[in-house]
Amino acid sequence: MSTSPIETLRQACLAPPEQPGEAWLRATGRQVMDLILDDHLHLPTARVGQTGTRAELERLLREPPPEVGIELDQLLADFHTKVLGNAYRTNHPRFFAFIPAAPSFASILGECLASGANLFAGVWKEAAGATQVEIVVLDWFKQLLGYPAEAAGILTSGGSEASLTALVVAREAIPHADRSKLVLYASEQRHWSIDRAAKIIGLAPEQIRPLACDADFRLRMDALRDAVADDRRAGRLPWLVVASAGTTNTGSVDPLAELADFASEQSLWLHVDAAYGWPMVLTDEGRRLFDGIDRADSITLDPHKWFAQPFEAGGLLVRHGELLGQTFKIRPEYMQDVEPRADEINFCDHGIALTRRFRALKIWFSIKLLGLGWFRRLIEHGCALAEYAQALVEQAGCFEITSPRNLGIICFRFMPRRQLANEELDALQQAIAEELFRSGKAFLSTTRLHGQSTLRLCFVNWRTTAADVEDVVRSLAEIGGRLEKG
Ligand SMILES: Cc1ncc(COP(=O)(O)O)c(C=O)c1O
Repeated sequence: MSTSPIETLRQACLAPPEQPGEAWLRATGRQVMDLILDDHLHLPTARVGQTGTRAELERLLREPPPEVGIELDQLLADFHTKVLGNAYRTNHPRFFAFIPAAPSFASILGECLASGANLFAGVWKEAAGATQVEIVVLDWFKQLLGYPAEAAGILTSGGSEASLTALVVAREAIPHADRSKLVLYASEQRHWSIDRAAKIIGLAPEQIRPLACDADFRLRMDALRDAVADDRRAGRLPWLVVASAGTTNTGSVDPLAELADFASEQSLWLHVDAAYGWPMVLTDEGRRLFDGIDRADSITLDPHKWFAQPFEAGGLLVRHGELLGQTFKIRPEYMQDVEPRADEINFCDHGIALTRRFRALKIWFSIKLLGLGWFRRLIEHGCALAEYAQALVEQAGCFEITSPRNLGIICFRFMPRRQLANEELDALQQAIAEELFRSGKAFLSTTRLHGQSTLRLCFVNWRTTAADVEDVVRSLAEIGGRLEKG
């Protein structure tokens, strides 16, 4: 008897792809969590990391995708030795380079839960709970930064996406015909994500005005005033100032209150890039330094930097929150069923992405589990470590401070006893950092200040102790002394 066409179709979709059974799922779930825990617990006693060449990594990892899955034990071993084993760990207590990142275990758990649930955080109707958690987290941030109730925001992949989103919002009101005349102002110490955001929105390089800084690497108001006046005289359209609240190089904070006054007087959009520095508002020192941030039109913040969150956790707040929807809301037919009510939010209307992971969960989870007081201690600890590092560097007698502590960052140069040409001195700083890096004991990065190479330490890690600071300063002095002789 022949099978009917409909029965043939039914047979074809009767069995879904094979899935492991409950026992396997539970056992492997525990195995993976054990691996995460072992890594978390043993990290401080391990090397900061190690790296390999492209050729070595090709040899380790290049292969065709297997048609049939391999054993989990083998896969975990590969992950552990080949992947984890070829990385410098930004969460290691002696990783001081760039802006490190050291998630709390509470936030890692939140991240695991978000991945497991895989909620669609783009529209209210699909995940009202997730959306409400994001609203609550953004409201907490608004309150910390002194932003008004009508402000709104969005969590992003990081600071780069947040600042790009801000520029798109700020540009929305500008008629297309005027956009080629816009000018963006930012200090020469701005983060380069601003230049990339400007490029993405179509600004030409000459539409970005890099402004001189004072001796403390803060944007100079006189430079801004002159540049804006020049541009107005030339018929250009002064449009937006980016202030840094914690520069990547030195942690310096631009004069936010003066910038807010000037921006309002000149009808400029004030965007504050506080990606690194924003949690300082938890402290008295930070509230003083960040005076005026509440008058910014938009603020970038990056909880995956100094707020102990796993990558990716960035955020944007916009003072006039309704501008987000006015900029990004587009209504295709196939979304007609998920139109939010007036008091609901579809976060896909607040930014670039439609499909969004539930980023707010790890932040919400860790704030609720640890309490805001833990985060305040984290920030105070970072500042105290940087203060201590500065004192040890000064005491060592072989360094020169190139930028004293700002927030959790200090910069300094090794100064050999014998006179060296500038280029040799620059090369020495980089050689010292490179040797420390290769030793696996600590990782710090160099940068350039006033045209000269300098060593730099950035403290954001809740695990870092005074002993780590002593170790790194001692190692730098010792390596510097040895290289100087060589
Ligand atoms: C001051 C500042 N702004 C923006 C960014 C870019 O943020 P993200 O790397 O999260 O895109 C960084 C990154 O280090 C930064 O330090």
